[in-house]
Amino acid sequence: MSDTISFPQDRTCPYHPPASYRPLRESAPLSQVSLYDGRKVWAVTGHAEARALLSDQRLSADRQNPRFPIPQARFENARRVRTPLIGVDDPEHNTQRRMLIPTFSVKRTAALRPEIQRIVDDLLDRMLAQGPPAELVSAFALPVPSMVICSLLGVPYADHEFFEEQSRRLLRGPTAEDGEKARVELDEYLLELIARKESDPGDGLLDELITERLRPGTLEREELVRMAMVLLIAGHETTANMISLGTFTLLEHPEKLAQLRSDESLIPVAVEELLRFLSIADGMLRVATADIELAGQTIRAGDGVVFPTSVINRDDTAYPSPDELDLGRSARHHVAFGFGIHQCLGQNLARVEMEIALGSLFRRIPDLRLAVPAAEIPFKPGDTLQGMIELPLTW
Ligand code: HEM
Repeated sequence: MSDTISFPQDRTCPYHPPASYRPLRESAPLSQVSLYDGRKVWAVTGHAEARALLSDQRLSADRQNPRFPIPQARFENARRVRTPLIGVDDPEHNTQRRMLIPTFSVKRTAALRPEIQRIVDDLLDRMLAQGPPAELVSAFALPVPSMVICSLLGVPYADHEFFEEQSRRLLRGPTAEDGEKARVELDEYLLELIARKESDPGDGLLDELITERLRPGTLEREELVRMAMVLLIAGHETTANMISLGTFTLLEHPEKLAQLRSDESLIPVAVEELLRFLSIADGMLRVATADIELAGQTIRAGDGVVFPTSVINRDDTAYPSPDELDLGRSARHHVAFGFGIHQCLGQNLARVEMEIALGSLFRRIPDLRLAVPAAEIPFKPGDTLQGMIELPLTW
């Protein structure tokens, strides 16, 4: 227990697990790590074990449980509010999730393809008209998912600078107080938006939830606001990171990119492999509510459990040569979208966005390349979603 490594840590290369996580891979499937406050928690690193535990009802996602592991001081305020979906257990979780499942089905998200393609084409037209060079995060990677989630929820995209900024403060702000202020501002914004929609309805998911749930009284206003916040943040922050980091990674692997360019039918499989390889949500969190035996050890009730997806998705018993980006492999069953009841609600949408965004970007700009040396490009710290802060490109 004395030589536990700290968690989370910054990546040394934006697309590989932190080099210092190496001992976690060596002691798979289960190790212990220390959080910022010195607390020891379990790190599940085996692929089969992670999937088994993420489906185990003895692990809770309830952030209001005082024993829930918080990875950084600035996230301590997460305990204050009840976060729908991602932060509640069944049966409450199931009730919330069932309200949203139809909107995020394979069929409904596939029907959004023409709209997503139009958004992507317009942004690329603009980028090509203005460049080279271009900064991909602000010109493309962030606006694509931001515009898509706005249209799906019925949030005006004109407000994107405001909610992207609050979301950034919530995830990467300097202090817990700053994060809390951002949350309150976003809360007020969404409360007002919902009130406006009640008198002047639109045709987004929020409008549907107002008519079908809020009016009949089967959904509380506060719960709707919080749900909208989860969807708005999860809907743009995650995919934006996958687009920016996915682009960077492909540019750093020119022979793989050439393979993708020569056969576009590879794109869906390649997106799955990029999800596995990049594991941008690198640390799901849970607390045990009962004793659990795993790999000859006992996770006690009240123990914290973390799931470093970058390590789990490189388990060589699940993926041969796991450190190799192999765009032809079947990376299905990765845990980049989590697993079990909380498995990403937006995964079908995210896949469609990534396929269209990455496919179109490399098709439209055949000689796309980094505008500065890779080592100079800033990427995000280990305690948040992984991705590029900026990505200067030229062609
Ligand atoms: C590539 C992009 C994405 C990645 C890598 C990703 C990753 C994840 C992961 C790992 C979880 C599970 C968290 C846990 O178990 O603690 C999750 C849950 C969730 N994601 Fe995503 N996500 C992505 C895109 C999206 C999009 C576009 C949306 C759209 C709204 C979304 C909405 C959600 C929601 C609502 C949950 C909570 C589900 C529940 O608790 O039932 N995500 N996501």
